[in-house]
Amino acid sequence: MSVILGIDIGGSGIKGAPVDTRTGQLVAERHRIPTPAGARPEDVQEVVAELVRHFGQEEKGPIGVTFPGIVLHGKTLSAANVDDSWIGLDADALFTEATGRDVFLVNDADAAGVAEVRFGAGRDVPGLVMVLTFGTGIGSALLHSGVLVPNTELGHLWLKGDKHAESWASDRARERDDLNWKGWAKRASTYLRHVEALFSPDLFIIGGGLSKKADKWQEHVKLARTPLVPAALQNEAGIVGAALLAAERSRSGR
Ligand code: BGC
Repeated sequence: MSVILGIDIGGSGIKGAPVDTRTGQLVAERHRIPTPAGARPEDVQEVVAELVRHFGQEEKGPIGVTFPGIVLHGKTLSAANVDDSWIGLDADALFTEATGRDVFLVNDADAAGVAEVRFGAGRDVPGLVMVLTFGTGIGSALLHSGVLVPNTELGHLWLKGDKHAESWASDRARERDDLNWKGWAKRASTYLRHVEALFSPDLFIIGGGLSKKADKWQEHVKLARTPLVPAALQNEAGIVGAALLAAERSRSGR
């Protein structure tokens, strides 16, 4: 099965599209439904089921779904930017029941990372690639020679006193504190230099909504040595990565 539905659950929108997992291309136009206020499991589950209906009931294959928190063995274990009732929930079972399909759940940044390394800005890059997504929070994906180390959660590194990095350097923090791009890039540089010193990656890929606006911030981000590029798949990375991982896991029977 090469075409798989990928669904990306985000803070403001829940987006889906069928993906050709051999090429990473969407085979139909992306469909987006606003995230219900509060992002409670029972409401999000309804939206996911609606997206599955939108793309055709006759399909019976597996689907890939991202979640903006830790995902371990099908359970959601954190909820920094969604309702607390996700913590400890068997979200895989919830979505499987709501959709009647075999669901594979993955952290949103991990999905984006897998997509970028397979089909985007990290393609054919040897060694350690780190994908950091700047949005409501900061998501991270760590891939070595294409192999994902899941749930790295580097948006929650402590930085600046008692603050998590994401509450100070995310795109939401940029908007909240009314920073210009240079001001935000200064914060992002402080954060990225810290990550750089800890991991010595070969490449940083910057994803999330602001990857489309790299001309505004890229020249202001200053690192010690690591090259940095914007994500190539931009808003589609989560959808594509979710579908790729679902395809892989359903092939391997995990
Ligand atoms: C969550 C991560 C997620 C990131 C981006 C963070 O607050 O803890 O799991 O990847 O936001 O959505």
